[in-house]
Amino acid sequence: MDRRPLTRRWTMALASLAVATAASLAPAQAQESVKVGVLISYSGISALGGVSADNVIKLFQKTYGSTPGGKTLEFIRRDTTGPNPDVARRLAQELIVREKVQVLIGPDFTPNVLAIAPLVTEAKVPAIVTGAATHGIIGEKSPYYLRTFFSIPQTVRPLAQWAAKSGIKKVVIVVADYGPGQDAEATFSKTFSEAGGTITGVVKVPVRSPEFSGYMQRIKDAGADAAFVFMPIGELSLGFLKAYSDAGLKNTPLKLLTTGDVPDESTLDAAGDAALGVVSAGHYSPSHDSAANKAFVASYQQEFGKSPRISMTHATIWDAMQVLYAGLQAQSGQKFDPDRFVAAVRGMAFESPRGPISIDKLNGDIVQNAYIRRVERRDGQLQNIEFDLIKDVSPR
Ligand code: PHB
Repeated sequence: MDRRPLTRRWTMALASLAVATAASLAPAQAQESVKVGVLISYSGISALGGVSADNVIKLFQKTYGSTPGGKTLEFIRRDTTGPNPDVARRLAQELIVREKVQVLIGPDFTPNVLAIAPLVTEAKVPAIVTGAATHGIIGEKSPYYLRTFFSIPQTVRPLAQWAAKSGIKKVVIVVADYGPGQDAEATFSKTFSEAGGTITGVVKVPVRSPEFSGYMQRIKDAGADAAFVFMPIGELSLGFLKAYSDAGLKNTPLKLLTTGDVPDESTLDAAGDAALGVVSAGHYSPSHDSAANKAFVASYQQEFGKSPRISMTHATIWDAMQVLYAGLQAQSGQKFDPDRFVAAVRGMAFESPRGPISIDKLNGDIVQNAYIRRVERRDGQLQNIEFDLIKDVSPR
């Protein structure tokens, strides 16, 4: 008799349904060991990402077994420490040359992705990018890159269209001044202007030690109906929300529109009321209403508790594991081959906790839904509540 508690069996059964590709994995006899490098942030401005990733990898292996395609997996972790291309390059070199990893999960941050592109290409190491969002950096920079995070236009274009449709006429843009921030500025400006809106100012904030309070007067003076903000998940997003609220901007008619990174659940509780009412376009909310997500949230919380909260990073790593398992399963009983791995997963579709996703056949980037959400307090907790949906958005 199966003695596992009923809720556990139920969530496991649902989770099994959720991942069609991985669900068919038989616990085949392991013939080969595949080394997987995990190259993400365990410290720095997005330090929570590493812990989340480790938990999700454990949960995935517990759910689907640890020998996809008959291969034993060995995970080797390194800390990018944030957007630090020199560190990322040194660690990628170490993972690839010394540790001989055959697949990478990561890196995070656009500058790191750009820095190691030549290394993964030369060594033919498929790398599933989990925390960088600039468009044009995946298949375009290396044929071995895949992505399960999101691309800036995939988020920002739907948000700018929603803003124009919602009667917002004038917007001030506030971005972290590096790759994805510049991408966000260009995409929002173009889309919103084409829809008849006006950009009244652009504020660029340095990624290193920004003093947010100094920018608030400029945002006020821009005379806009709304501010559109991109900051990476973590300390910068939290710092912005606090400064915005402390400067009294929350109590003015100025609306706050952001990418999903700003009110990410990893910092939402720390932001507190400063985040209430923020409208964002994003790809994953733990309150997303689907059977696959309910199973994911229940089994994660059963294993690791309710704090820190489940967030976009969790969904991204879960999907990186789906891609990893599907690619290895496609060469079941054969020796690991990086080109066949990439060819197999390009074009594949998965059911993710965030909804349906697929890997673009042409460049390995992700195709997914964008959701427009608002931060509300529900059941005593701040949550990103989805209220509009744009299906199957291209990453380009
Ligand atoms: C990026 O560096 O491209 C990046 C990092 C974290 C985010 C979004 C984008 O939350």
